[in-house]
Amino acid sequence: MAALMCSSCHSLLLILLMDVAASVNGQGGLQTGFYSSTCPKAESTVRSTVEKYFNRDATVAPGLLRLHFHDCFVQGCDASVLISGSSAEKSAFQNFGLRGFEVVDDAKSQLETACPGLVSCADILALAARDAVDLTGGPSWSVPLGRRDGMISSASEATSLPSPADSVAVQRQKFADKGLTDQDLVTLVGAHTIGQTDCLFFRYRLYNFTATGNADPSINQAFLGQLRALCPQNGDGSKRVALDKDSMSTFDVSFFKNVRDGNAVLESDQRLWEDGNTHDIVRNYAGNIRGLLGLRFDFEFRKSMIKMSSIGVKTDTQGEIRKICSKFN
Ligand SMILES: *[C@@H]1O[C@H](CO)[C@@H](O)[C@H](O)[C@H]1NC(C)=O
Repeated sequence: MAALMCSSCHSLLLILLMDVAASVNGQGGLQTGFYSSTCPKAESTVRSTVEKYFNRDATVAPGLLRLHFHDCFVQGCDASVLISGSSAEKSAFQNFGLRGFEVVDDAKSQLETACPGLVSCADILALAARDAVDLTGGPSWSVPLGRRDGMISSASEATSLPSPADSVAVQRQKFADKGLTDQDLVTLVGAHTIGQTDCLFFRYRLYNFTATGNADPSINQAFLGQLRALCPQNGDGSKRVALDKDSMSTFDVSFFKNVRDGNAVLESDQRLWEDGNTHDIVRNYAGNIRGLLGLRFDFEFRKSMIKMSSIGVKTDTQGEIRKICSKFN
């Protein structure tokens, strides 16, 4: 039995590895090692900068991952989310609570000194997201690079982002619009293993859900009490709560066990357990063969991240390389 499990485990790994290798080329013209001759310190500079902030406050890791995700879903992964201004993407309601901007700005200013005009803000963000996952105990991967920074940033376009109240059908459509499957959807939502959210994004589930006067019945009763204590009905809406109650600082599969057990914080996460297709994917990740499933999630997460971080990228002569990430040149 043990031998059987091991051999199937190896062939699974092999298939996944081959998939990853095959997908590296042809991601919208991106390539790994893009800066190896023009700015050899690009990747190590981003890494050391992320580490510096992470050592001060580990919650910057999910912040960077979310920042990259929100960038990619609007105008593609082109740093449009980093632009400042009252009508810029960053100011949209969907982007409330985004953080990690200072990490990108810090890495950018070091790289502008070392190799001016070469490393895009969009690439810095993609690298920082990879490093954030690695620092919290998740997988690492080679990031295909060569993104250029976009010239448009508009708050009104942020509606393409998934919302915490979206049904599975709506989440599925928003991911499909970006070329991502149900498998990618569930896998990428697994990033909530290290995430936090604000009370205002889920408090409506706790007190008067769909005007019934009761809480969302899919919330585990014991957990409901804990959530109500963390987010009183008229308390501070910007108070932060962990999305994976058991291990918010470790990148692991316990988030999926929480979804299975009615312990998801966001409605959109809990709904993944109710749709036939996403249910099966969650159940697989949440299963009991701990080491193997952790490994499986790690491999799938790499694959889905490489896919997501190549959405709508601009390369070659498109866009620009910004001098300052918060401003167009
Ligand atoms: C729940 O919301 C509905 C609609 O806004 C309202 O009519 C009702 O009084 C509320 N119930 C409670 C218990 O607050």
